[in-house]
Amino acid sequence: MLDGKKVIVTGGGSGIGRATCVLAAAEGADVAVADINPGTAAETVSMVEKQGVKAILIEMDTSKKADAERMAAEAVDAFGTIDGLVCCAIKLVPGKLEDLPEADWDMVMDIGLKGYFLCAQAAGRVMLAKGSGAIVFVSSIGGMQTYPLAGAYSICKSGAIMLSKLFGVEWGGRGVRANTVSPGQVRTPMTEAMFQDPEIAAGRAAVVPMGRVATPEDIAEGCVFLLSERARYITAANLPIDGGQVESKMIHTPGRNWGGRKIEYRTD
Ligand SMILES: NC(=O)c1ccc[n+]([C@@H]2O[C@H](COP(=O)([O-])OP(=O)(O)OC[C@H]3O[C@@H](n4cnc5c(N)ncnc54)[C@H](O)[C@@H]3O)[C@@H](O)[C@H]2O)c1
Repeated sequence: MLDGKKVIVTGGGSGIGRATCVLAAAEGADVAVADINPGTAAETVSMVEKQGVKAILIEMDTSKKADAERMAAEAVDAFGTIDGLVCCAIKLVPGKLEDLPEADWDMVMDIGLKGYFLCAQAAGRVMLAKGSGAIVFVSSIGGMQTYPLAGAYSICKSGAIMLSKLFGVEWGGRGVRANTVSPGQVRTPMTEAMFQDPEIAAGRAAVVPMGRVATPEDIAEGCVFLLSERARYITAANLPIDGGQVESKMIHTPGRNWGGRKIEYRTD
């Protein structure tokens, strides 16, 4: 699906970003793995190279404009151009709003929202200059509905959805599409501690209509599709990849009893 394409993935050293790097490579793309952690990013580079394509490591911090610009320049130096960008990098800092430190708010917003903007702007300029390319933001269903006690996360993710719509509309007519995927629950290094507790793991799966949480590979499928020509008429869209969770509130709300006819919801 991505034969010969040159793709950058921020946060490519772990979880959804890593799975996207590997799937993009399996679909024929050369991949720039951009991450603040060079150790894990180097592991992803090896995984990408095993697919028989080229990979480079870009150590960078998405919240810094100079790093975002260097990221785009290094990808062009290595590959000659940029055809796609997937933004995944995040640092989730949970907290109650009443005592959320300003520094925690800033960190999440700087990496996860300003960082998405800076990286899309830098890579997008290369794509605009040639009149083709695709950008995918990894947001969250936490950007579509509240995610209480997760600090600035919901705001950051909500902003990312709107930002990709803006890019998608401003740049769609110039050949550069921009879209969002919004994962539900995904088992990654970021969330692994929760899933170590069997009761929590079972409880989290139980609120998903499809009965399980996602793998990083489930999310990578959406990212690679939106990068590809198969998505050629899709821009400014937000694709939830959540097993139905974001639309499932009423399934978990008691009282399905209309006019004496009681209907039970079952997942088994
Ligand atoms: N795991 C989930 O349940 C879930 C659900 C919905 C959305 N998401 C979103 O998916 C994306 C990936 O999440 P994940 O679970 O794979 O996380 P992860 O923690 O496994 O990976 C995040 C990566 O981002 C990198 N990173 C952090 N700060 C950076 C910075 N300043 N500059 C560059 N790289 C930086 C980390 O080193 C790491 O490799 C995030 O945007 C997250 O919000 C995850």
